[in-house]
Amino acid sequence: MSESTGPRPALDLEAFPPSFAWGTATSAYQIEGAVAEDGRAPSIWDTFSRVPGAIDNGDHGDTACDHYHRWREDIALMKELGTDTYRLSVAWPRVVPGGDGPVNKAGLDFYDRLVDGLLDAGITPSVTLYHWDLPQALQDRGGWTVRETAEHLAAYTTAVAERLGDRVTRWATLNEPLCSGWIGHLEGRMAPGLTDLTAAVRASYHLLLGHGLATRALRAAAPGARIGLVTNHSTVAPASDRPEDLAAAARMDGHTNRWWLDPVYGRGFPTDMRELYGVELPEKPGDAELIAAPLDWHGLNYYFPVTVADDPEGPVPHAREVRLPDVPRSGMDWQIDAGGLEALLLRLTEDYGVRELYVTENGSAFPDAVGPDGAVHDPERTAYLEEHLAACARAVRKGVPLAGYYAWSLLDNFEWAYGYDKRFGLVHVDYATQKRTVKTSGRRYADVIRAHREATAG
Ligand code: FCB
Repeated sequence: MSESTGPRPALDLEAFPPSFAWGTATSAYQIEGAVAEDGRAPSIWDTFSRVPGAIDNGDHGDTACDHYHRWREDIALMKELGTDTYRLSVAWPRVVPGGDGPVNKAGLDFYDRLVDGLLDAGITPSVTLYHWDLPQALQDRGGWTVRETAEHLAAYTTAVAERLGDRVTRWATLNEPLCSGWIGHLEGRMAPGLTDLTAAVRASYHLLLGHGLATRALRAAAPGARIGLVTNHSTVAPASDRPEDLAAAARMDGHTNRWWLDPVYGRGFPTDMRELYGVELPEKPGDAELIAAPLDWHGLNYYFPVTVADDPEGPVPHAREVRLPDVPRSGMDWQIDAGGLEALLLRLTEDYGVRELYVTENGSAFPDAVGPDGAVHDPERTAYLEEHLAACARAVRKGVPLAGYYAWSLLDNFEWAYGYDKRFGLVHVDYATQKRTVKTSGRRYADVIRAHREATAG
């Protein structure tokens, strides 16, 4: 079914246990559309996407993939790919439009139907509670820079868990708090678009506190829940072996990796980074324990490695990304290096003691188009997928307890600040007609899933 892209090393599929979960992932704002339907209120992304120049081409999520109306068709696509599981996010502004206060039954009804549809199709839902779409009403009251937002996340979590917890067992609290914290509040490239170190550090703290409070809320409302946190990481290499570059790499590792993992795994916020940021954390007694509440699994999102050089005059963490020449890159201009995925899986296992792991996102964007034959040929994405699955297999052989892999993404979708130009889907979306076309990478993924089942059957 898949096209030839030259000699392809056989995938070591027998490395993956028979129960290995093959999935695809999406998030609410990136695919749903229907932003003003059934009582949904605006989120910070509805607001940010109206800021002139914030999003390429002035794109926004008003219609996106129209998944809110086409979810049945999209579940049929998952069945066609043969996936066992689907990672979706619930939109807080649909369920609690004001951020706190009344629950909107119509908003929950949508996810109720979706979950039933998935289960009827034999697909296990994995539900992420917060994939960046904070109700604008809460942003107006300080957003993640204030403690109350973490408390409201827990109340919203209770409402979702009470409705879906009888059928959903795999839950994640947050998606990529690094992006909300650093990119949203320090770099300004994502909603809410701030460039303020104090705000960013406070937001990062309240996001992780929110994770802890939401975990506690889930345990109370859905006793069978298996709870994880989804974080994104990069391996960090120094641009040279100069001591200054080595130190810059250590700072970037603190900023990108340790800041988000150490507190969750009981080590507290790293002292070197606290000193570097120089911002007092809004800590209260008991917070550290909440943030480090035991988890059932960890979700790793991995896309690219980074190489950095010392940059004393540059912004925190004073480490400038160096663009390596002559390395493979995706359409995002991100370096492609599957070895980074293997290394991070090993680090989570060996250094942080994680006992159940999922790759909750991994994928690549390329400028795909429907060809004259009606097909979408995407050999680069197919190669990316295979290389990263091979990295997963190597990690499993080395003892990583990897339970599943979710390809980002099921569909081409609204790629945040990049709008619709960046296509990550295994399924192509023609936004003018909403026609879906499974790409050759999607066919290859289906072949892999089938081959794994055959290899491990019996
Ligand atoms: C991750 C996000 C996801 C998607 C991919 C490409 O950072 O979690 O929503 O945009 O990147």
